[in-house]
Amino acid sequence: MESSEIRQRFLAFFEARGHTVVPSASLIAAGDPTLLFVNAGMVPFKDVFLGEEKRSYVRATSAQKCLRVSGKHNDLEEVGPSPRHHTFFEMLGNFSFGDYFKEETIAYAWEFLTNDMALPPERLRPTVHPDDDEAAEIWARIKNVPASEVTRDETNFWSMGDTGPCGPNSEIIYDRYRSCRDDGSDCEPICECGRWLELWSLVFMQFDRAADGTLAALPKTGVDTGLGFERLTSVIQGAASNYETDLFVPLIERLRALTGDPQEIAPERLANYHAVADHARAI
Ligand code: SER
Repeated sequence: MESSEIRQRFLAFFEARGHTVVPSASLIAAGDPTLLFVNAGMVPFKDVFLGEEKRSYVRATSAQKCLRVSGKHNDLEEVGPSPRHHTFFEMLGNFSFGDYFKEETIAYAWEFLTNDMALPPERLRPTVHPDDDEAAEIWARIKNVPASEVTRDETNFWSMGDTGPCGPNSEIIYDRYRSCRDDGSDCEPICECGRWLELWSLVFMQFDRAADGTLAALPKTGVDTGLGFERLTSVIQGAASNYETDLFVPLIERLRALTGDPQEIAPERLANYHAVADHARAI
């Protein structure tokens, strides 16, 4: 499946479930002095989550262009060596503004990945915040395991920046089936060995963080999800890294033509290719 079809199928899935398709906003975070660039799909909806802006819809979906090069979410140093980090990327998202909450969010994500994208359910591992029994129980029902077996991760709390809307999240991690242990036994989805690929973050928006760090309850709970478009494409296309998908191969080929390097790029030069391809795409 080509990446353009993946994007289109995501938006169509949520449109068919009552979501308004909202075009990607500019990368420049207009009117928001807390950000240099849009760094997540929820940024254009920040004021809606805060209850300061009303829209004609309570469900939205988008493929938002993002840039993570500064501030709280900065992946610049990862780009090149990492198979899955970028400065510029697209985030596929669905949003609820005081409408549905955890149950529907998790059910939609599961249906899209296992049905529409046909990913094997056993390769998808959810994680939840340690205090989020409700999300753990929903996943336990879906996965048919005891809630105590759903992985809890204390880093599962998402904030846009130092201030603004935030809340606990649940992540859907894809198992690349590469054991990091000599004996081949399993590590947990929070292991950083490269086996586990975070595909989708489901944020349950509940708080507004003030500059002094205190959390105030939002007027209404909300949902903000972000599915990594380039990561999902790498999984669907069976690629070992995002750079081996149709989103990057043409850029890398063009670079190779410019440098005159051989078809088989020397391993020690690959990270350079990835960084230049990433930055070219960002520009
Ligand atoms: N805002 C969350 C993130 O950027 C989910 O969309 O990961």
